Amino acid sequence: MSIDYLSLAIYQKVCSAHISNWFIAVNTLLHSQHTYGIIMMAIASIVIFHWQTVISIRFETIYLEKNMKIFSKSESETEQAGEFLARFISPGSVVAMFGDLGAGKTAFVRGFARGMGYTGRVTSPTYSLVNEYLAPIPVFHFDMYRLEGEDDLFDIGWEDYLGRGGICIAEWCERIRDALPPESIFVTIEKSGENNRIITIEGADIENTRS
Ligand SMILES: Nc1ncnc2c1ncn2[C@@H]1O[C@H](COP(=O)(O)OP(=O)(O)OP(=O)(O)O)[C@@H](O)[C@H]1O
Ligand SMILES: [Mg+2]
Repeated sequence: MSIDYLSLAIYQKVCSAHISNWFIAVNTLLHSQHTYGIIMMAIASIVIFHWQTVISIRFETIYLEKNMKIFSKSESETEQAGEFLARFISPGSVVAMFGDLGAGKTAFVRGFARGMGYTGRVTSPTYSLVNEYLAPIPVFHFDMYRLEGEDDLFDIGWEDYLGRGGICIAEWCERIRDALPPESIFVTIEKSGENNRIITIEGADIENTRS
């Protein structure tokens, strides 16, 4: 699985390697007793540390404005992508999923539920319309495939679920596009080969990790 987010992790690794080089330099000077050099090096280290923190925060902010693209090569990688999203979700969120038959939406939800701490079975709620997964933050898994449109949402208690403080994650949101809260997280899965999928995640707040 390759995640755009990886570039952020690499960037942070480079920063921390750079910072540790400075500390090694300070340490070397300490041992050679050059007091003036030590003080200058220490000041420089603090400045660099501060500067890099600022850059790092900016980098994440810029990143937030972009869509996250994940290139999956197997069902298990799509599950991992779902698990990855679970790290950034907050209670009350709606995850709206789009994608053709067999795109991998249920696979994504399976990983997502696992990431939320649910250990039971996750299957498509094609007939039940909604499955409830009792994780520490409950996950409500919808399949809108059989709905005619937004009007049918009333029958499945969509509004009540939205108010329950859990996470509503729904497949086939093409059917209910106009009823989706604007702050929803949008997940689109496109087939790009027999086992290849492009997963686009829009609107996830990656500054807000739960763990
Ligand atoms: N990279 C991949 N990611 C996800 N599933 C994959 C991938 N490659 C192949 N598959 C296969 O595609 C199928 C995806 O099934 P899944 O039920 O998750 O799709 P879905 O989008 O929920 O379909 P539906 O619209 O019927 O609900 C599985 O059979 C899975 O093995
Ligand atoms: Mg499904």
